[in-house]
Amino acid sequence: MADQTEVPQQAAAAEQAEAAHQGEAAQPARVRDLEVDGLRKRFGGHVAVDGVSFTVPAGTLLGLIGPNGSGKTTTLNLVNGVHRPDAGAVRVGGVDLTGRRPATLVRHGVTRTFQTPHVFHTITALENMLVPVLHHRGGRAAFQDRALELLEFVGLAGHRDTPASELSGGQQKLLEFVRALMTEPAVVLMDEPFAGVHPAVKELMRQRIVEVNARGTSFIIVSHEIPDLTRLCRQVICMSEGRVIAEGPPAEVTADRRVVEAYLGRGAAATGREAGT
Ligand SMILES: Nc1ncnc2c1ncn2[C@@H]1O[C@H](COP(=O)(O)OP(=O)(O)OP(=O)(O)O)[C@@H](O)[C@H]1O
Ligand SMILES: [Mg+2]
Repeated sequence: MADQTEVPQQAAAAEQAEAAHQGEAAQPARVRDLEVDGLRKRFGGHVAVDGVSFTVPAGTLLGLIGPNGSGKTTTLNLVNGVHRPDAGAVRVGGVDLTGRRPATLVRHGVTRTFQTPHVFHTITALENMLVPVLHHRGGRAAFQDRALELLEFVGLAGHRDTPASELSGGQQKLLEFVRALMTEPAVVLMDEPFAGVHPAVKELMRQRIVEVNARGTSFIIVSHEIPDLTRLCRQVICMSEGRVIAEGPPAEVTADRRVVEAYLGRGAAATGREAGT
């Protein structure tokens, strides 16, 4: 995929990681609804996201599915400010944050993980954890205990002094996940957290997402792993060709004719129905 982001993704990861409070009055983070209203994004002649709207009430675990290229990652990029939308709005706790930069979204309680984990390779796992709070009052010393607790939470405490480059792909995803929790976000956007990781890592990630959600944090989880999402989320949205084509409980959405057709193509979906599958 061409990379023409307004904020290159690695820079966005760095920027959100380095977000400082900078004196903004922080509401208690974990009580914010996220509203996405009519988002649209065109790349050249291609409309990647075409009027996407949904609401994530505080405390929700929302799954986002859809075939390759349907606009899932672009939607996350529009929500957290990697891309500026051509139309539409993003509101967090009622505050209009449309087109604001990733660091601003972090200050309003929205953090993010990426399809390919964006950890800082040359520094240790613990140092990665402290990057988001470097500019916060008290700096590293004030946040070291929290960082160590979160590393422990995902089984990485023993790797605190390991350079991130020496962690496995799954461990890097876990590290990126808990780093996104350092600023006590209201909403965490996760792009394919289960892709290409060992089943044990996947299960640990799933359990930890459930635990964090139980304390009030909302999640939007993009995944192709439908069984994992079905276990995790009570609400799922399916996108196809830049639009939301179905929304509801996972069993309903995955059985929806438009969803089956989006994944299989119309002919194949019809054949499957005739064959009773
Ligand atoms: N920065 C960009 N520049 C140009 N085209 C882009 C850019 N980002 C995405 N696209 C295009 O927009 C469409 C949606 O891409 P997107 O990455 O959002 O899909 P996706 O649903 O996340 O797919 P996947 O499941 O493969 O990750 C695709 O056609 C893609 O090629
Ligand atoms: Mg994607």
